[in-house]
Amino acid sequence: MKTIHQIFYRDARNLKEIPSESVDLVVTSPPYPMIGMWDDVFGSQNVEIEKVLTSGDGKLAHELMHGILDSVWDEVFRVLKDGRFACINIGDATRKVNGDFCLYPNHARILNYLLSIGFSALPDILWRKQTNAPNKFMGSGMLPAGAYVTLEHEYILILRKGSKREFKTECEKQNRRESALFWEERNIWYSDVWMDIKGTGQRLSDELSRLRSAAFPYDLAYRLVNMYSVKGDVVLDPFLGTGTTIAAAMTSGRNSIGVEIDKGFQQAIRPMARQIVDFSNDYLRDRLRRHFEFVEDRIQTSGPLKYTNKHYGCPVVTSQEQSIFLNGLNEVRESDGNIFEVAYSEKPQDIAQGRNWNAESLRKNKIQLDLLNR
Ligand SMILES: C[S@@+](CC[C@H](N)C(=O)[O-])C[C@H]1O[C@@H](n2cnc3c(N)ncnc32)[C@H](O)[C@@H]1O
Repeated sequence: MKTIHQIFYRDARNLKEIPSESVDLVVTSPPYPMIGMWDDVFGSQNVEIEKVLTSGDGKLAHELMHGILDSVWDEVFRVLKDGRFACINIGDATRKVNGDFCLYPNHARILNYLLSIGFSALPDILWRKQTNAPNKFMGSGMLPAGAYVTLEHEYILILRKGSKREFKTECEKQNRRESALFWEERNIWYSDVWMDIKGTGQRLSDELSRLRSAAFPYDLAYRLVNMYSVKGDVVLDPFLGTGTTIAAAMTSGRNSIGVEIDKGFQQAIRPMARQIVDFSNDYLRDRLRRHFEFVEDRIQTSGPLKYTNKHYGCPVVTSQEQSIFLNGLNEVRESDGNIFEVAYSEKPQDIAQGRNWNAESLRKNKIQLDLLNR
């Protein structure tokens, strides 16, 4: 198995290199309108924005910034195939403009626009980025009527283009089964509030840190890629930044396309690609190890599990998990700095590493199952 990952350093308002209806999933996080660190990025794409901000018209500035994002959402809709998803991580902004403090509801503005161009909304995810920062409470402190609740969450909007995706051929169905999640992962990943993923700070001093600070966590991208696509799919991130979505696609055996307006991010993306083989293999081993730990615990508390994964020989809760297969990465090849080809292993032992982490519980599971089946 091989995957291709291509990066375009250009303005995503025009994705002319990407044919219509050719993408299976969009995972992205745009610059957040009305968050100060993005003013220059928006200002460089529409000169009116700086003037409007200086004049103190926050609502118009918010609207003009979203006008830029709207053009990218139009392109996202065009390139997505029918029945495919867009997952958009966005936070609202609070800001004082002209003496007035208020919320700029970015998630609502984007959601409304996406619905107006033909997307269907699905239940979204609230990403709770709890903070202990001393300044998290805003406004008049203990005095009523002028204090505001904390802003410790962001959204992951989930949209679908067209109707439900179908997996028709036996090959498509088998690939879907291999791409499945473990039952215990499903219970957390498909919950509407994510509290177990830590965010990154927004304000850092040096340039590379600033680039990194806007990145979303790797786990967030990895989950979304695995929840809303199957192996071999094409994942697009039109606001690529440091390349987190591409990294998650590489680990997951998906192809990907990244678009980023600022070529400065190449200095973060190329080192990421060079390290992706070791990083991914460790990540996948860890995923399997967590499953083994879950199994051990579950057998002790609830008794034996009925099904077995055919690649790893480990118990699983449901029949849908029997074919899950995590392809280890063999190598990554870079051509012209912007295209990466990843080759994968077809051997389960490359991730299982011949280790039998829970031999004792596997043995107990089998004994108990045998007893039940007598
Ligand atoms: C919130 S950051 C994305 C961070 C990314 N998810 C990561 O993990 O690193 C938004 C990115 O969009 C880029 N950007 C802004 N306007 C753009 C446009 N019109 N086309 C393409 N990229 C753009 C910015 O340079 C920035 O890197």
